[in-house]
Amino acid sequence: MIEKDIEKVFFSKEELSEIVKRLGAQISKDYEGKNLLLVSILKGSVIFMADLMREITVPCEIDFMCVSAYGNRTEASGNVRIIKDLDINLEGKDLLLVEDILDSGVTLSYVCRMLETRNPASIKICTLLDKPERRKSNIKADYAGTFVPNEFVVGYGLDYAEKYRNLPYIGVLKPEIYENN
Ligand code: IMP
Ligand code: MG
Repeated sequence: MIEKDIEKVFFSKEELSEIVKRLGAQISKDYEGKNLLLVSILKGSVIFMADLMREITVPCEIDFMCVSAYGNRTEASGNVRIIKDLDINLEGKDLLLVEDILDSGVTLSYVCRMLETRNPASIKICTLLDKPERRKSNIKADYAGTFVPNEFVVGYGLDYAEKYRNLPYIGVLKPEIYENN
């Protein structure tokens, strides 16, 4: 059982569902009549993306991109590598980047700069969680589900060493889990 490794729950399944509904309604309103393309940044945003897209009522396309920030498990280092690029031509599309968490912002600012060169009509950011205290680059979420304090969280897509993504809620791990690594 993965639940035994969780010290406290930050956002329950029900709270997450409320947050995602609210974001979906706002996005549906703002993107009416536009060419919405949802871009999920793998792997962390996969659950959020799957739930969010079902709360969006305007036509949209989806695509996936996988990037990896070099560095240790809990710190992004600033070097970003593209593991899987988008398949769709971005020209004229209104891109909405769907992220699990905006932390230092290093990953997303790199991704935004790269995608801007492909002439989309617009690029915006929708993040489920925002940790503004940790920001290193000049980037802001256009849509943020909720703020989190400066603690490492897991679940609902977010991992620690590739585990805990399948927890249906978001929580904090017991300290001994990190100590044992
Ligand atoms: P950033 O480049 O520092 O903004 O963060 C890049 C990625 O680090 C996020 O998309 C997450 O995948 C991961 N990350 C940052 N903070 C956390 C956390 O608290 N839990 C799990 N993953 C995190
Ligand atoms: Mg991520």
